Amino acid sequence: MVTEAEGARSARLFFALWLPAGVARSLHSVADGVVGRCGGRLLNQDSFHLTLAFLGDVPAPRQPELLELASGFELPSVAIRLDKLDYWKHNQILWAGCREPEPVLLALAATLQEKLLAVDFLTETRPLLPHVTLVRKLLHPDVLPDLDPFEWSADELVLARSCRSGRGAEYEAMARWPLA
Ligand code: 2AM
Repeated sequence: MVTEAEGARSARLFFALWLPAGVARSLHSVADGVVGRCGGRLLNQDSFHLTLAFLGDVPAPRQPELLELASGFELPSVAIRLDKLDYWKHNQILWAGCREPEPVLLALAATLQEKLLAVDFLTETRPLLPHVTLVRKLLHPDVLPDLDPFEWSADELVLARSCRSGRGAEYEAMARWPLA
């Protein structure tokens, strides 16, 4: 059980793949075009990422345990292809994702989630819909442009913290591990 004091020092954590700067820049420019026409809040391109496992609030005393655990994961690198721009009405986000999520990407997320679940770390176990959120609070999307595919090899796993700020959530990398 998390005490009140521990809860106050807890952090909202998730494991993700961060986008390379060039891919993030190009996607930001595509999303900027959509925001120019339709409004919404364009996210900072440095924060573009693809979440693999969402942990929710992790109490401070468990965070060193998580870091140690993750350093032993030895997960493989994966090829990512983002080739789809889409919109979810329920949460008003514009996102980039994969028409056909690569089995290796889904397998990486599943392996990571299993390892976390085994030691009681995972709070979100709904099936993963791999996506990169580009814009929030997009209320009235029009016809979205086709996305020229972006491909790269994701070779780093990032543990990130989500912090609330006046500008909405901001993301900060806490630790990184190479994917083999
Ligand atoms: P989103 O961009 O679609 O909101 C930090 O909040 C990251 O974790 C974001 O990538 C966010 O996705 C994702 N996230 C937030 N809440 C989540 C949940 N309950 N389940 C899965 N992912 C979540």
